[in-house]
Amino acid sequence: MTEFSAGEYDPDFKWGVSTAAYQTEGSIQEDGKGLSIWDEFSNRPGKIYNNHNANQACDFYHRYPEDLSIIQQLGIPNFRFSIAWSRVLPQGVGAPNRAGLDFYDRLVDSCLEQNIEPWITLYHWDLPVALHRRGGWTNRDILNWFTEYVELVVNHFKDRVTQWMVLNEPMVFTGAGYFLGIHAPGKRGMKNFSSAVHHATLCQAEGGRIIRDLHSSAHIGTTFSCSLVEPASANERDVRAAQRVDALLNRLFIEPALGRGYPINQLPALARLEKHMRPGDEQRLKFDFDFIGLQCYTREVIRYSWSMPYIFARQISPQKRAVPTTLMGWEVYADSMYHILTNFYRRYRLKKIIITENGAAFADSVKEGKIDDYERERYLSSHIHACLRAKREGVPLSGYFVWTLTDNFEWAEGYRPTFGLVHVNFQTQERIIKRSGQWYANLVQQYLSQSQK
Ligand code: FCB
Repeated sequence: MTEFSAGEYDPDFKWGVSTAAYQTEGSIQEDGKGLSIWDEFSNRPGKIYNNHNANQACDFYHRYPEDLSIIQQLGIPNFRFSIAWSRVLPQGVGAPNRAGLDFYDRLVDSCLEQNIEPWITLYHWDLPVALHRRGGWTNRDILNWFTEYVELVVNHFKDRVTQWMVLNEPMVFTGAGYFLGIHAPGKRGMKNFSSAVHHATLCQAEGGRIIRDLHSSAHIGTTFSCSLVEPASANERDVRAAQRVDALLNRLFIEPALGRGYPINQLPALARLEKHMRPGDEQRLKFDFDFIGLQCYTREVIRYSWSMPYIFARQISPQKRAVPTTLMGWEVYADSMYHILTNFYRRYRLKKIIITENGAAFADSVKEGKIDDYERERYLSSHIHACLRAKREGVPLSGYFVWTLTDNFEWAEGYRPTFGLVHVNFQTQERIIKRSGQWYANLVQQYLSQSQK
């Protein structure tokens, strides 16, 4: 059991769990939903581990009452989920789908009835296919499409939802989806990547502005993936290589939002973004978010490499370094969380940070109906401690969300890596709360009851 130091209880600290529409909902064509790029991508042979897809996933579309009652039973006060754009606007723009909005109405209303605060992410990677056919993130028109979508959703939910996030991890969906081609929509190359990055950065700020205009009491954030990046040696070439990777992984999307422009000095290849800039864009990239969501899972150790175009750097894999890893192959290194928080705070003086995702995939085994996932418990415990240590030292951290509630569809890795606090049997859809779920529930209860004293 985690113990907290005296005096560190913050009654406003937000403890939560995070999920995403595509990874959990299933029902990809039910009740008028349009297809998304992920529906299409994961049904293409050879794209996903063992050709898995999320056509059914956790069947959250039907089973959300059960999942919410688990959240309630665990006493977790905050639930982050995303809206599937193509469920509410099947063609991406144009006629809304009443049944899609109804689903999120039921979800939001059930959260509120159970005293669970809903946190909406507007975009967690599932672009409507209809918009992809028109160029998707590579087409600047996405600013208008995204505006239409955000206006619809915010107007619809503003009477009941205060907590909003615009994008989930733009670095991952542009990098994996438009440069490497390993995520939907499977596009590759610098041209696709640079246009997708610029348009996503514009939408990130524009989304913030729209929410603020339509909903003055909203608490508005957006989320960034981040990793502690360290050079493999003190050699100048490795140090510079690590700086380039840091620019790409940790600075690219936050700096323009903060009014600093793109980190081109640190990573010259980003100069290509300038081709997509139009007059006035520098201003439009900025938005004063109420909070910044950080999602940190691991660290990267980097050395110089002449053979990697643009970045001239390569990571030394955790396997080579013989350090402990999760099922994702990511190093388990809790100090990364501490350093990310202190570095981001020091660098940018952010007014409020929330860890909007953190968690780990480990192999679970069900024995006599129980899952004793000590490794996940240790991972969460050490990372939460790292967060609270940073908070004690003055980082304005005001929340922590575990990724994730239930085991679910982990993108290109399919159902292989399990991140949930709750196990799912994907044949029967039976849920079992893991030991880590119970542990997290106890930790949250302990913290909340102390902070009320
Ligand atoms: C993040 C994603 C989330 C989940 C975790 C493991 O990059 O935002 O959907 O896949 O990683």
